Amino acid sequence: MSKVLVFTDYGGPEHQELIEREVPEPGPGEIVIQVMAAGVNPADAKMRQGLFGTKRTLPSPMGLEASGIVTAVGEGVEAFAVGNEVLGSPAKGQGTFAEHAVLNAAKTVAKPEEISFVDAAAIPVAGTAAYDVTHQVELEPGQSLLILGAGGGVGLMAAQIGTVHQYRVIGVASASKRELVESTGATFVESGDGAADRVREVAPEGVDLVVDLVGGQALRDIAPVAKDPKNVITTADPATAEELGGAGVKRTQEALEKITGVIQYGLVDPNVGQRFSLADAQEAMAAVEGGHTAGKVVIEP
Ligand SMILES: NC(=O)c1ccc[n+]([C@@H]2O[C@H](COP(=O)([O-])OP(=O)(O)OC[C@H]3O[C@@H](n4cnc5c(N)ncnc54)[C@H](OP(=O)(O)O)[C@@H]3O)[C@@H](O)[C@H]2O)c1
Repeated sequence: MSKVLVFTDYGGPEHQELIEREVPEPGPGEIVIQVMAAGVNPADAKMRQGLFGTKRTLPSPMGLEASGIVTAVGEGVEAFAVGNEVLGSPAKGQGTFAEHAVLNAAKTVAKPEEISFVDAAAIPVAGTAAYDVTHQVELEPGQSLLILGAGGGVGLMAAQIGTVHQYRVIGVASASKRELVESTGATFVESGDGAADRVREVAPEGVDLVVDLVGGQALRDIAPVAKDPKNVITTADPATAEELGGAGVKRTQEALEKITGVIQYGLVDPNVGQRFSLADAQEAMAAVEGGHTAGKVVIEP
């Protein structure tokens, strides 16, 4: 038998439950892994709340990214064999907060040995989002990149990517995250009322690219610091970004291999801030759902 965190109905965290099931088997194009670590994302709660639709078969396994060791390989999969160390995203309807998870082989890559399982678990969702959102508009070295929500899972990696490209990075986050944000090479600006004025103090001419990881009113408040409204790109709130002249992030196939390489060579640290056991998976979910975690939250079954 094998444990997995599921949601039994759409709605609040009261619908989450750690259950036992048979070890799952891979379908065509799928692999099964023994999960070593799984990253927790705001999207896990959004999915449970039904914000991505309500068509999943219930109870529905939770978790959208993981690292682990391949235990079974489905029909047609040639890239992986039993015993390989990998990181990737679950197959349709599957989840990774589990002792065993079914991954989509096309959305899985080999885990380089330089990357720990814990760090690797932060790559398929947060790492690829950080890569895509910082590459949608290409800047030149010396140009300015502002990150709203710089202290979270995506934000800390996006800030480091900006530093690697020699952009002038400005990280907006709450006061408790000053040191963490500065450790990426970014200039720290405190979030909240007056954040745009504080940004103008460090960038009076405005910024070349705004990367938003928060959305809503915080995005509306900060967006005017962009020199060009088109250069406001969000992972969190495409509707508001589009209304303001910007755009939602476009996800790419190449991001998974690219960001894995960047992390392998030590240029970006996924910054895992909190680790939970699978028995405490509900606590891990609550931490991320609270919206103010520092770095990534990871579950280790
Ligand atoms: N479209 C995609 O493919 C994709 C992929 C990954 C993530 N996302 C989305 O991107 C967003 C960020 O993801 P994440 O994993 O980085 O989340 P996270 O780890 O929870 O980080 C969110 C950060 O936002 C900060 N924040 C909250 N309210 C703020 C405000 N008013 N002003 C400034 N900062 C604020 C929080 O820190 P403070 O305590 O400093 O406020 C926190 O560090 C989420 O909406 C997620 O769903 C989308």
